[in-house]
Amino acid sequence: MPKPNKLANKNFLSSLDLSKEEVLHVLDLANNFKNKKINIDLKNKVLGLIFNKSSTRTRVSFQVAMSRLGGSTIDLNPTTSQIGRGEPIKDTARVLSRYCDVIAIRTFHHSDLEEYAKWSTKPVINALTDLEHPCQALADFLTIHEEFLDFKDVVLTFIGDGNNVANSLILCGALLGIEVRIACPKGYEPNSLVIEKAYEIYKKKDLLKITNDPISAVRGANVLYTDVWSSMGEENQKEKKDKDFFGFTIDHNLIKNANKDAIILHCLPAYRDKEITDEIIESKSSRIFEQAENRMHVQQALLSCLLK
Ligand code: CP
Ligand code: NVA
Repeated sequence: MPKPNKLANKNFLSSLDLSKEEVLHVLDLANNFKNKKINIDLKNKVLGLIFNKSSTRTRVSFQVAMSRLGGSTIDLNPTTSQIGRGEPIKDTARVLSRYCDVIAIRTFHHSDLEEYAKWSTKPVINALTDLEHPCQALADFLTIHEEFLDFKDVVLTFIGDGNNVANSLILCGALLGIEVRIACPKGYEPNSLVIEKAYEIYKKKDLLKITNDPISAVRGANVLYTDVWSSMGEENQKEKKDKDFFGFTIDHNLIKNANKDAIILHCLPAYRDKEITDEIIESKSSRIFEQAENRMHVQQALLSCLLK
């Protein structure tokens, strides 16, 4: 039986804002939403969406999730609101939290998200910052759970940039006690505070491995995951990063080293034939589009918990 909801009115800025029990509760609820076993009414509740970076999945899945729950969303486009003019976050946050019941924010500096949370009287959700993408990690672990039915023997290998997506996977993986391996070129390791925190959470330290060798990292793995090499805001580093990440593409040759039952994940959007080949995205092992769908079910679950 899921534990009683302790998430009401809390912020979700980091994977660490949930306990292991709370993650499992959100995943269970998401599964119930997906299978139409539950109906929660958030009539008259309003989610404000602030996106300082582009988005397809996160924006639309939040909008549809809210609409399925009977609530509504307001798109607070920074270029048509006063946010783009540079109104202080502390002013915007205090005003918006008098209109909206919850606010999801996608921005660059994680400290800006924390500033919103400091001044908002309503829950704030991280819709991606340069440091973390915790909503994505919840959908990823729902997808993994659907495949393997529990997390007992899961070995998750992330191949690519130790960026926001990898950071949230590490933290959520540590909460769930899953073996997480990160294979990245030298200099692209995940955030050192995130690594430190994960080691603190894991009872067995050797469950998190950071390596520069993708082949050894995929041996024995049953989930292979990647993300773009150049994230939003790093467009000017593309040429250098394409060179630095040579050899870190998820392709036919690399997955030969993984378990036979290994599934492939990617948060999307992808650059085909850079971090992953077109063939692998379209292969039988790919769960990439199930993973994208799960964003919506997980966000329905999250919104229900934060707003109830
Ligand atoms: N995975 C993800 O967050 O996609 P969007 O950038 O399209 O929201
Ligand atoms: N690391 C990517 C994730 C996109 C969903 C970025 O920040 O652009």
